[in-house]
Amino acid sequence: MDERLISSSMREDEAKTEYSLRPRALAEYIGQYAVKDHMRIYIDAALKRGEPLDHALFYGPPGLGKTTLAGIVANEMGVSLRVTSGPAITHAGDLAALLTNLAPGDVLFIDEIHRLSATVEEVLYPAMEDFALDIIIGKGPSARSIRLDLPKFTLIGATTRMGLLTSPLRDRFGIKEALTMYDADSLKEIIIRSSRILNIAITDEGAVEIGSRARGTPRVANRLLRRVRDYAEVRMDGSIDLAAAREGLDMLGVDELGLDEIDRKMLEVMIVKFGGRAVGLDTIAAATGEDATTIEDVYEPYLLRLGFIARTPRGRIVMPAGYAHLGYPAEIQQLKLEVDE
Ligand SMILES: Nc1ncnc2c1ncn2[C@@H]1O[C@H](COP(=O)(O)OP(=O)(O)O)[C@@H](O)[C@H]1O
Ligand SMILES: [Mg+2]
Repeated sequence: MDERLISSSMREDEAKTEYSLRPRALAEYIGQYAVKDHMRIYIDAALKRGEPLDHALFYGPPGLGKTTLAGIVANEMGVSLRVTSGPAITHAGDLAALLTNLAPGDVLFIDEIHRLSATVEEVLYPAMEDFALDIIIGKGPSARSIRLDLPKFTLIGATTRMGLLTSPLRDRFGIKEALTMYDADSLKEIIIRSSRILNIAITDEGAVEIGSRARGTPRVANRLLRRVRDYAEVRMDGSIDLAAAREGLDMLGVDELGLDEIDRKMLEVMIVKFGGRAVGLDTIAAATGEDATTIEDVYEPYLLRLGFIARTPRGRIVMPAGYAHLGYPAEIQQLKLEVDE
């Protein structure tokens, strides 16, 4: 298969650890209880009927386990997983090649599916609905379209931007599951599981501490775990207890709520530079030197969940809890709101 079709967004070593930390079975997939319950039923029902699983769409912020879940589905269904991504499929022919190479029942995983081009999407519709590929042969008046049959397969799409999906595409998924940020218990369990796999000695308190600063996100939890291990190995005896976790995370600039320099800079810019007024995403991006998409996908969801910022029709505003966390008196905000009116 064409190398370009295989997405590689991460550095190789990091990608390798991430791979080794990925649960392979649904029972090992921690937290996300509702999604897990639903998927258990859909998978068991499909297996019982001897049919491929219906097309599934997983959506939610990065690092919550969408790719992992796609792998689990293929595993549990006992089929192969083909992985690609929206931006990697540049031509309709790329998609046709992927589809015609599938074996019956296979899972085709398209990451960042909201980034598929319109012409590629057109090819996807009959493939999803009728397991068919419409191919135009010839040009001009003599052009005709022939229909190729495809094996029955399962398409799994993942997206961080449900809102950017066209409705015809969205409607063709029989299963739609929203992944949400993880609770403290689940994060602790994920960190303990990862520590076991990576041979890291960690106490319960250490795991809770890392989990509490992981922004509700397993990928962040695993990354912090690896960095704290580095710290513990160099500065301490290598095992992670509460003190090691605290010191390591403080050194990384990750505060008690999991905010890092960029989060704080964002809030600071909105409070000080823009005086608490509503600010547009691009303005925040320019003022912080961060990429607007990264802010929207990675930083904003967690700040919204903390209630530190809010989205209004005129832009983003900092909420009282955001002022308090950065040590600014809430009166400042009151004042600005009055000036605004
Ligand atoms: N439910 C889970 N249980 C345990 N580990 C998880 C879970 N979800 C995600 N992870 C871990 O987090 C990492 C990132 O997950 P991934 O599936 O790549 O997220 P996404 O595709 O949503 O960005 C994986 O390597 C995996 O180790
Ligand atoms: Mg992914």
